[in-house]
Amino acid sequence: MKYPVSITRIERSRLEEVNFDNIVFGRHFSDHIFIADYDGQNWTDFRIEPFAAFSIHPACMGLHYGQSIFEGMKATKTVDGQPVLFRPEMHAQRLNASARRMCMPELPEDLFMEALDVLVGLDSNWIPPREGSALYIRPLMFANDEFIGVRPSQKYRFVIMTGPVGPYYPKPVRLLAENHYVRAVRGGTGEAKAAGNYAGAMLPTKLAQNKGFDQLLWLEAPEFKYIQEVGTMNIFFVIDGVVVTPTTDGAILKGITRDSILTLLKDAGYPVEVRRITIGEVIEAYRQGKLQEAFGTGTAAVVSHVSHIQYQDILMELPSVEKCLISNWAKDHLEGLRSGRFPDPYGWLTPVHALELAEV
Ligand code: COI
Repeated sequence: MKYPVSITRIERSRLEEVNFDNIVFGRHFSDHIFIADYDGQNWTDFRIEPFAAFSIHPACMGLHYGQSIFEGMKATKTVDGQPVLFRPEMHAQRLNASARRMCMPELPEDLFMEALDVLVGLDSNWIPPREGSALYIRPLMFANDEFIGVRPSQKYRFVIMTGPVGPYYPKPVRLLAENHYVRAVRGGTGEAKAAGNYAGAMLPTKLAQNKGFDQLLWLEAPEFKYIQEVGTMNIFFVIDGVVVTPTTDGAILKGITRDSILTLLKDAGYPVEVRRITIGEVIEAYRQGKLQEAFGTGTAAVVSHVSHIQYQDILMELPSVEKCLISNWAKDHLEGLRSGRFPDPYGWLTPVHALELAEV
C-alpha cells in the first residue's frame, strides 16, 4: 500500500442490529470510518477507526462558511460474493472537481481508492446481499480551521463513512416544477456536490412536501423554462420513444448514474438526446399523449420512476410503472451489472481486494 493507513478495529460489531430485509436509507452506519486530515500542505494521518462521533471546534470554518463537499457512491456484492465498488474513480474525480470549485484541496485519487478498498474490505460483511440494496458510501470533506473570518480554510478533514441501504424512493415520486425558488445558476456552485446546494433547497422542498409532493423539479432562472434536475437526482423523459435528458451546463450535477444510464441506453440502441428541454415541451408532449415516462437517476435513487409532475395548475399523471419499459430496462441493467447478473463491458466494477481484513 502506498499510503500508511493505521487501523483500529471495533471490539464488537454492530452488524446484528441491522435487519437486511428492511433497511431504512441513511440510518445505519457500518463499524468503521476512514479519516484523513489536511494540515495546510499535505494530507496526513490516514486512519480507520471504530465509527463514532468526533469533536468539532465551535469556530470550525466548514460550519460557518459552508466549505463542505461530499460524494455518494455504492458497493455491492456480485452473485459469486465478490464485493465491488461502482465507478469509484469517477467519484474521486468529481470530488476533486467539487474541491476545486469550493477552493478546497484535492485528494490524491489513489489515496481515495486505497482508503475505499481498505474500509470496504474491513466492513464487507455490511454489504447487503440482495440486489437493489447496497452499501452506501459517503465520502465527505469539510473545512476545519478554527477561525472566524471569511477566507478559505487551511485545514480540512476528509472522512469516508458507509452504511447499508435499501431503495431511497420505495415508490414513484411526485414532482412539483418550481417557478419561484432557484437551486443553481450557471457560474454558481450547482455542478459541485456542495453541502450548501442541498441546504438552499430545503425550504422550497419542504413547502412542496407540505403540498403532497416528494421533490422539486428545478427550472433554470430567471425564465423558469428550462429543466435542470430534481433535488436528489438527474431527470430523464421518454417522449415519443426518444429518451431526453438536459445537458449539464455548469448548474446541474454531473450524475455518475446519469452517465451510466445514458451509456447503457445508447449502447442498447435506444434513441437518446442530451439537450436543453423546456417544461413547455414536456407539457405539450403530455397533451399530445407522447410523454411516455419520466424518471430520475442518482446513486441513492438508482432509477426512480416519476408518477406525477405539476407545473402551476397543470398536473401531469404519468403511465404506471409496468408501462415504463425503458426505465425498467435501464434499472434492471444497472442493478444487474452491479450484481454480476449482466457482464460489465465498461469496467465499471472495481473489486475490493482488502477482504482478508474482514476475516481477522
Ligand atoms: C446520492 O445520490 O448519493 C446523493 O448524494 C443524493 C442524496 C439524496 C442522498
